[in-house]
Amino acid sequence: MIDTLREALNERLALDALDYEVPKATGRLRYMLGGLTAFLIGVLVVTGLYMAQYYDPTPRGAHDSVLYLISRAPLGDWIRSIHYFSAGGVVLTVTAHLAYVFWRRSYKKPREVTWWAGVAMAGLIFLLVVTGSALRYDQEGFEALAHFVAGGRLTGAFGVFFTEGFTPSTSLLSRIFSLHTSLFPLLLGLLIALHFWLIRQLGIHADYSETGIFRNHATRLAGFGFLLFAGLGVLAIVVPVGIGFPAVPGVEITKPFWPVLWVYGLENLLGAWGMILGPSIVFLFLGLVPLLDRGEDDTPGRHGWVGWVALALALAILGLWLYGVFGEAQQHIGM
Ligand code: HEM
Repeated sequence: MIDTLREALNERLALDALDYEVPKATGRLRYMLGGLTAFLIGVLVVTGLYMAQYYDPTPRGAHDSVLYLISRAPLGDWIRSIHYFSAGGVVLTVTAHLAYVFWRRSYKKPREVTWWAGVAMAGLIFLLVVTGSALRYDQEGFEALAHFVAGGRLTGAFGVFFTEGFTPSTSLLSRIFSLHTSLFPLLLGLLIALHFWLIRQLGIHADYSETGIFRNHATRLAGFGFLLFAGLGVLAIVVPVGIGFPAVPGVEITKPFWPVLWVYGLENLLGAWGMILGPSIVFLFLGLVPLLDRGEDDTPGRHGWVGWVALALALAILGLWLYGVFGEAQQHIGM
């Protein structure tokens, strides 16, 4: 019975195409970090679509609509908490994936574009995190939004899009909502398609002398994905995310969502310019990696000076993050 069903599905959905060879190493968790990131992005899309049915992206209605979502909408509190924890989870899995492909020097020819697509996706994930944290429109969300305005003003004509001055016809919050729910996910989806296409065509940067079948790899990955989802589901029950008080304009007293705390730490040192300089330096370096570490040799860990720069940056981010976590809350944008 099961075999007949499998055969029928195979024939109609061309599932045999999934039976191509992949290196045996892909069965290890460290080779599944990219796949788990994709899985969590799927969770974010589904939970985000649900929340969007209840969310009101206007300064007047936003906070109340989130309160409604978590107190009245069926499973609203749970689904929102899963969305929140999945966002943190994506930051962890994508950072670990990036670090591991960097360690293996998998950005080398012919995988430069795979790497650049990855850098662009990491940038989009960063933007999705900061736009998402503004949407709840409590004190923390309001201050996140105020940082968009401050950053927009600092960067002149380039940043005017992120200020209220861009248009009087719609609020900045509504435009941030639209970026968070349409443009950024759309670009992310296109880049994931490009990333996956290149991985399929170029193969994995690993030893092909021992191989397995991709279908088994995907099944195992789905198993890990659902375990992760179960963990997030329990976390969302045990520690629901909640929401702060409605915003009081003109004060800056909160710290941002934890993945952004290293930028906050840099702002403590450099003022508002920290939020522009920090991410720009990190992403510029990541973009340059395939151009800086050239040559045939791709022995893992033998990056030469590029590896030392990467280590210095990683330690700086960690140090700034700890400073952001434990340092006193400070004012950066003079509200
Ligand atoms: C939305 C984010 C991302 C998703 C869904 C994703 C997904 C994947 C998957 C499924 C693989 C194949 C298996 C593996 O090595 O894990 C992969 C490989 C790769 N990824 Fe990503 N990735 C993402 C972000 C990134 C980032 C941020 C970078 C680096 C800046 C990156 C660079 C690469 C490279 C160079 C490979 C090829 C590795 C190899 O051939 O072994 N990816 N990615």
